[in-house]
Amino acid sequence: MVDVILGLQWGDEGKGKIVDYFADNYDVVARFQGGPNAGHTLYVDGKKIVLHQIPSGIFHEEKTNLIGNGVVLDAVTLKRECENVAAFGVNYKKNLFISERAHLILPTHRAIDKASELSKGNEKIGSTLKGIGPAYMDKTGRNGLRVGNLLDKSFTTEYIKLRLKHQKILESFNFQEDISAWEEEFFEAIEFLKEFKIVNGEYFINEKIQQGQRVLAEGAQGSMLDVDFGTFPFVTSSSTISAGVCTGLGIAPQKIKEVFGVSKAYCTRVGSGPFPTELNDETGELIRKTGSEFGATTGRPRRCGWIDLVALKYTCMINGTTKLIMTKADVLDAFEQLSVCSSYKINGEETNEVPFQMTRVDIQPVLKTFKGWNRDISSLKSEKELPGEMKTYVDFINQYLGVKVRYISNGPGRDQLISVD
Ligand code: GDP
Ligand code: IMO
Ligand code: MG
Repeated sequence: MVDVILGLQWGDEGKGKIVDYFADNYDVVARFQGGPNAGHTLYVDGKKIVLHQIPSGIFHEEKTNLIGNGVVLDAVTLKRECENVAAFGVNYKKNLFISERAHLILPTHRAIDKASELSKGNEKIGSTLKGIGPAYMDKTGRNGLRVGNLLDKSFTTEYIKLRLKHQKILESFNFQEDISAWEEEFFEAIEFLKEFKIVNGEYFINEKIQQGQRVLAEGAQGSMLDVDFGTFPFVTSSSTISAGVCTGLGIAPQKIKEVFGVSKAYCTRVGSGPFPTELNDETGELIRKTGSEFGATTGRPRRCGWIDLVALKYTCMINGTTKLIMTKADVLDAFEQLSVCSSYKINGEETNEVPFQMTRVDIQPVLKTFKGWNRDISSLKSEKELPGEMKTYVDFINQYLGVKVRYISNGPGRDQLISVD
């Protein structure tokens, strides 16, 4: 069977830590969408490492890790990342497999991402500038190059043809940049990529499932960044929700069992776009400081605010979330009072639904206030030790969402995770 771990907010919910923790129970960990826009932080032997492309099961020696067809792959980032994990003694050549159907991010995709963002001025998406949007555009536009094409004799010719198309796009943006250094790195990394186990991912994973192996699908970004259901156009370009597991790995929907939805005890967002519960004040600043809320991929300060239950209920619905994992609960230790958003006021009218155009309407969060636990919870190990105020807070969330919080993460470390009934 297949279980899924994915983000229910705007990304950075702590998926990397959770996947690393759960990986022990699985045989295969697979990424199904996104690319190096992801930054998943793990602590291995007390040392921090951020993964962008490699699944977060890589530090478990006997586990298979698969980069699925739904991912867009930046060979340069992958090469760098492989060198990083090798320093931890990981034999990535043995444990990492790549689908031949995954699309490649080219240097010109990155340039187009940059040109497009510049042209939007104040209305920019705030993309990670990793070429994600342009690479997915070439996928759906039926132009892209895939990992399997690397082995074709015509690869360089096809690359040059696509680059020419891209150069015309760049000219239309009036954008000029010397990409020769990027290209040199790209072709070096392409040679490196050829040494990998490039597989027919859908047969590969279905055979494993048939043999009774357990698969964990690792989501990137978050459901509110989903290209269909997120805060469009301020989204990423892939299906970040549980449905993306089927198209991003070639797995049938009835194979999916648990959908673990990860949410912070509060909320963050990096990049532009609507964020109804955002706190542009000292409270937001305190969350950012206490939670070290700075992007793992770009280093940008993350926007911070209270947990948004309207958005969470929506993402629980579209994902079919079966179990909730609440992360960074310890970050709220400092607060005497906490708030949750339980409805929106849009143009004066109260609603419990996420509207079509979050960008065009004035959304005021309706907040419900709770007493904070206001003590250090980072060393707690079991449910019975959790403060009463936290139980009240979590009970309200459980009731509101109709899905229960099953784990509470109380620190970045592997062992800081409390199972709750
Ligand atoms: P991801 O993209 O969902 O994997 O999340 P990121 O790695 O981008 O951001 C999560 C950050 O929070 C990382 O720095 C983690 O080390 C850290 N983190 C994860 N869980 C916890 C937690 O329960 N408490 C605290 N204080 N930090 C956490
Ligand atoms: P993980 O997997 C948080 C955001 C960007 C931008 C928008 C589009 O670490 O949770 P893109 O580069 O995808 O075209 O950018 O999406 N974004 C993320 N925000 N966590 C991520 O990944 C993100 N990946 C993309 O900031 O607003
Ligand atoms: Mg992240």
